[in-house]
Amino acid sequence: MPIYHKQGNIPPKRHTQFRRPDGELYSEQLFGTIGFDGMSSLLYHHNRPTMVKDIIKSTDVSPKIAMEKHIRSLKLVSFKTEPKDDFLEAREPLLVNNDVHIGVAAPKLSMTEYFYKNADADEMLFIHKGSGVLRTIFGKIPFEYGDYLIIPRGVIYQIDFDSTENRIFYAESFTPIYTPKRYRNWFGQLLEHSPYCERDYKLPQDLETYTDMDEHLMKVKKQGVLHEMVYEGNPFDVVGWDGYNYPYGFSIHNFEPITGRIHQPPPVHQTFETSAFVICSFVPRLYDYHPKSIPAPYNHSNIDSDEVLYYVDGDFMSRNGVAPGNISLHPAGIPHGPHPGAVERSIGQQGSEELAVMIDTFKPLMVTENAMKLDDGDYYKSWLNS
Ligand SMILES: [Fe+2]
Repeated sequence: MPIYHKQGNIPPKRHTQFRRPDGELYSEQLFGTIGFDGMSSLLYHHNRPTMVKDIIKSTDVSPKIAMEKHIRSLKLVSFKTEPKDDFLEAREPLLVNNDVHIGVAAPKLSMTEYFYKNADADEMLFIHKGSGVLRTIFGKIPFEYGDYLIIPRGVIYQIDFDSTENRIFYAESFTPIYTPKRYRNWFGQLLEHSPYCERDYKLPQDLETYTDMDEHLMKVKKQGVLHEMVYEGNPFDVVGWDGYNYPYGFSIHNFEPITGRIHQPPPVHQTFETSAFVICSFVPRLYDYHPKSIPAPYNHSNIDSDEVLYYVDGDFMSRNGVAPGNISLHPAGIPHGPHPGAVERSIGQQGSEELAVMIDTFKPLMVTENAMKLDDGDYYKSWLNS
């Protein structure tokens, strides 16, 4: 997040003496995700952040692959996944490769018994249903329907839900999730042609600081294994921090669509990027206004990327028979395009109320056993005339 932000109390000069009311030094921690080279923050802990007391359990949570190599378009009915009480147990990885794990979760309960951090992956949580507060060592981020929550790897967090009705579409990215570079100037400021600007971000606020020395359970995901560790002292013991590396939120409803006289290509919907995939937002917008325009997209041969679409709301104009919570996978190697009738249907229409999140990966995705349980079976034939 290339915006300088701070919360709480910090010393006027970095790496200098900064003392607690009882005279002891606070513990300073540099927190970055690209060695000492990328964006980072400096945090000041009441206690040492290194006090591991015990490692009590390690559980393999790596995805189980059902189809490693394939060329079948899929439609997954993700709302068929059973809601589960626990935030982590509710996660169902569906489409995965070495760069990203894409999945859904329907957690019912807030995370109160433990703290969590993903040591491997930046997390993108897209909130389809539910609301609450993401509580982190950097502060709180209230969230609601339509929010993307971007959580850099290593951020310790808990999540509070307002109700038990929650649906999340998520991506765990093994390279950092950034805003698109072409929308930033050489200082990192978002440019005038960017579909959103700095005012649209939900930055961490209301820093929580607890100084108890009780034992606390921490679950750390690393290399596909969930390690359960006991820490001495409360992980939320930060009295202040500043810098550029921290979690934030952004609402899909604040994405300003880019439109034109003729059909605009998918990159106009791009919202985030990594070195291995992009995340795009399809939002309600006016259609193309050339008198002979065709608002539906042309067929395109995605020979080099897999396309995942998560349908959120509204009628998706280029597809037949998709509903909220459906996920389509259009794999690399074969072209895809509008469904039969969709091109003619789109002509003369003024606009769309469609809302969807798209992830295009540059390497093929494998299909998990979880995904096969949601597969509708014959979506790949849905471009035939009858
Ligand atoms: Fe496409």
